[in-house]
Amino acid sequence: MSLQPPECQDIVIIGVSGDLASRKLIPALYDLERAELMPDGARVIGMARTDLQQDGLVQLAKASIKQFSRRDIDIDAWERFVRRLCFIRLDEEGYRRAAEVTADHPRLIYLSVPPSAYPGIIGNLAASGLNQNARLVVEKPFGSDLHSSRELSRIIREAFEEQQIFRIDHYLGKETVQNIIVFRFANAVFERVWNRDSIEHVQMTVAESIGIEGRGSFYEETGAVRDIIQNHVLQVLSLLAMEPPVDMHPEAIRDEKAKVFRAMRPLKPEECVRGQYTRGEIEGTLANAYREEPDVAQESQTETYFATRVEIDSWRWAGVPFFIRTGKRMPLRATEVVIAFRGAPLLMFQGTGMETLRPNHLVLRIQPNEGINLTFLAKQPGPEMTVRHVNMNFFYHESFMTEPAEAYERLLYEVMEGDHTLFAREDSVDLAWQVIQPVLEQPPQLCFYPAGSLGPTEADQLIAPHGGWHLK
Ligand code: BG6
Repeated sequence: MSLQPPECQDIVIIGVSGDLASRKLIPALYDLERAELMPDGARVIGMARTDLQQDGLVQLAKASIKQFSRRDIDIDAWERFVRRLCFIRLDEEGYRRAAEVTADHPRLIYLSVPPSAYPGIIGNLAASGLNQNARLVVEKPFGSDLHSSRELSRIIREAFEEQQIFRIDHYLGKETVQNIIVFRFANAVFERVWNRDSIEHVQMTVAESIGIEGRGSFYEETGAVRDIIQNHVLQVLSLLAMEPPVDMHPEAIRDEKAKVFRAMRPLKPEECVRGQYTRGEIEGTLANAYREEPDVAQESQTETYFATRVEIDSWRWAGVPFFIRTGKRMPLRATEVVIAFRGAPLLMFQGTGMETLRPNHLVLRIQPNEGINLTFLAKQPGPEMTVRHVNMNFFYHESFMTEPAEAYERLLYEVMEGDHTLFAREDSVDLAWQVIQPVLEQPPQLCFYPAGSLGPTEADQLIAPHGGWHLK
């Protein structure tokens, strides 16, 4: 079934002059335009404190599409898109104007501003009536700890109902992340072994080769735990670990995810490794230390790397550790999940090399080279009994002859459709903060790793008894 454009609605981007709007939101809306999936008659209203004016907004949109859209500029689509654009200055009068301009349509309001600006903006949205007939999209991280997240929820709930709120975690918009549900629940063969009887441990790595990309002030307050672990990593873990939902209704899925969060034990600081990159080399280029980046304190204690183990106290997962790690300035960009299965009950083939080989594992490559790989042991041809690893490999681009779409494109479409499946619910966000809160309160001492390495050696020790990290 091919997708249809959603019902007519106006899209209000608050903070249109910021980084997120030009890197992700405008290109995603334009890509929807090219795919003829923008609602008929929908306006895109950009609001910012800077007095961009209409021309400034059009220039900004053109530059961001040129640089960040996955498609070229198509004249017809661009002209359609420009006709939708409307700049309104973000001040008291601006809220009133925006409410008037959008009075005839439902509204999609995107808060593309730092969380510290939310309370003031929410108050103005309510006072101007913009919160009526509206959906509100908020970005992660939602708050900066358990307390501030609850406070933020309280403020937002004064002006919006839960059904109006869409908490974005763009990992949930990635094709490969959505495929976790299909892979698990459309293939009974895997579901039968998806438990503590067959799985020895699970690993998830989110490695990035980029640093903080000029976002020093943001990152100093955030760090890897709040930026990646509390949201992206725990959300993916919840999809890997959840029970089958009763159906595909958004709340059925979100209920199962919430149960996983509820069963996760709060992290133990002594089992966590916090790291920060020092100077190093990535692909032949020298990279500065984190403390040398603009807007970063010389003695900064912010972590750019984090690794730990997560335990899930449920019948399915009791005793199975989930090792997770993320880091900036690693030698490569790679996000992957590894399901490490238990070995055969008896070593039948002694002396064949089998003793030293990791038993079967399944690798879900979230990005890049999106795909899935199953590794198993096979007899090497020849007179001797020698055993080695072989792979069954699935690549998205080979099987579907297409590259996965940008996550924001999919997510904006889903908000316009009013479908909550790919968005985090308040209870899950709260529970995820509860899981990481002990590390925020008692952060373990920082370790250092050179840029271009896969993180501090302390993190290798964490997983050593389970055969080490898959990505080395
Ligand atoms: C964002 C973080 O949420 O995710 C960034 O704020 C990070 O620090 C980015 O670089 C990674 O996203 P992706 O899609 O490139 O894995």
